[in-house]
Amino acid sequence: MNAAHTPDPSATPDAQAVPATKPLFATQDQVRALAEQYPTPFHLYDEATLRAQAQALADAFAWNPGFREYYAVKACPNPAIIDILREYGCGLDCATGTELELAERMGVSGADIMFSSNQTPAADFAYATRLGATINFDDLGHIAYYEREVGPLPREVSLRVNPGGDFEGANGLFDRPQDAKFGMPVADVHKAAALLAQAGVERIGLHALLCSNTLGNTYYPRLARELFQLAADLHRELGVRVSFVNLSGGVGIAYRPEDAAPDIAVIGAGVRQAYEEVIVPSGLGEVSIYTELGRFMTGPAGCLVTRVLHLKRTYYDYVGVDACMADLMRPALYGAYHHITVVPGRDDPARDPLAHPGVYTVVGGLCENNDRFANDRLLPEVQAGDLLVIHDTGAHGRSMGFQYNGKLRHAELLLRTDGSVRLIRRAETPQDYFATLDVLGDAYTAPLRPQA
Ligand SMILES: Cc1ncc(COP(=O)(O)O)c(C=O)c1O
Repeated sequence: MNAAHTPDPSATPDAQAVPATKPLFATQDQVRALAEQYPTPFHLYDEATLRAQAQALADAFAWNPGFREYYAVKACPNPAIIDILREYGCGLDCATGTELELAERMGVSGADIMFSSNQTPAADFAYATRLGATINFDDLGHIAYYEREVGPLPREVSLRVNPGGDFEGANGLFDRPQDAKFGMPVADVHKAAALLAQAGVERIGLHALLCSNTLGNTYYPRLARELFQLAADLHRELGVRVSFVNLSGGVGIAYRPEDAAPDIAVIGAGVRQAYEEVIVPSGLGEVSIYTELGRFMTGPAGCLVTRVLHLKRTYYDYVGVDACMADLMRPALYGAYHHITVVPGRDDPARDPLAHPGVYTVVGGLCENNDRFANDRLLPEVQAGDLLVIHDTGAHGRSMGFQYNGKLRHAELLLRTDGSVRLIRRAETPQDYFATLDVLGDAYTAPLRPQA
């Protein structure tokens, strides 16, 4: 799916076919009841899924005594979600000053923060340093910048590696690190390591994020082998101590009903094999494995609930919903697939939408033609007033939101393991939107209209 009306390749424009289904962590009755209590759209997260993902990751890497997940807070920066992940030993991966502030506000500091930023302002480096975070340099030149603008280097720092070329990820798919703006070439890593050693840095970490949303189980093991080899080379050639290897994010989730989710236990075992074959004989000693997973941790644990406002039949059968790409921009930005479940509305909750499937294009209300959630998607029958549940939006979903057309950001709810639901972020109000116009006078900040 894309800005133009390119049909989703998974959609069969054949109304006789049976729409695929995908399990959801909440029942349709729960979704309907929540939509009576909270204005749509809203995000709903599932505590049980969060816990299952965090536990599976911890189990998969339990063989490595120093293992640590630094949860990529950009994926879903809600303290109530992060608090749950912290119970499983997760630190925080922050990329900006504001994400660092979230960590500080949550009482997180020191070795519990990985600062993996790029094009970093001096003020953010200084803030990370003040918090005692581990700094992950994106470029060789940033080391001198840091020394000039912030001060002496910490005892342990990390280097972000970009080996260039293609990287064969899972399923024979190639991502091209060469085309990515992130990280430094291996030759610069060698130079940086020498510089750091000279400056008295005692321990160096290596970090790379070369592929995104990988399926299959080979991405991490391949990446780990490459970084382990580099660690061994640096140790042999420069005598530097590589204390950790950070595999960052990139493990995917099953967005499509036909996708098999990666098996994190198999992935952990694959990394272990590479560790035993490369690190153990290298004489490096203990090397901690770190990850910075976002999508794997929270992606399947969230969904976006939106109500159907209008059905519009023109050149396509449009379903107009009250969410838009400001609430979830992955489909518009990347052509990403998110599965959609139709929940019959309050007027006829017992209706069976599967009995009358149709081919629909699901759109939001922005003045943007790529404001879409699906093109020509075979779906159960949709009627105005129905709820659509857009699946697997728990990572890089709400957090990528924006306010174009004055769209206000929606609320977040957490479905707890005891079945209760907690509001973990309220919806924005017009006052939030107009707050920064206070510089123009009270006309913009005094409340004017009642909330929807
Ligand atoms: C530095 C860094 N770490 C971790 C992640 C999380 O990646 P994912 O959500 O694929 O696990 C990202 C994603 O943008 C990233 O930029």
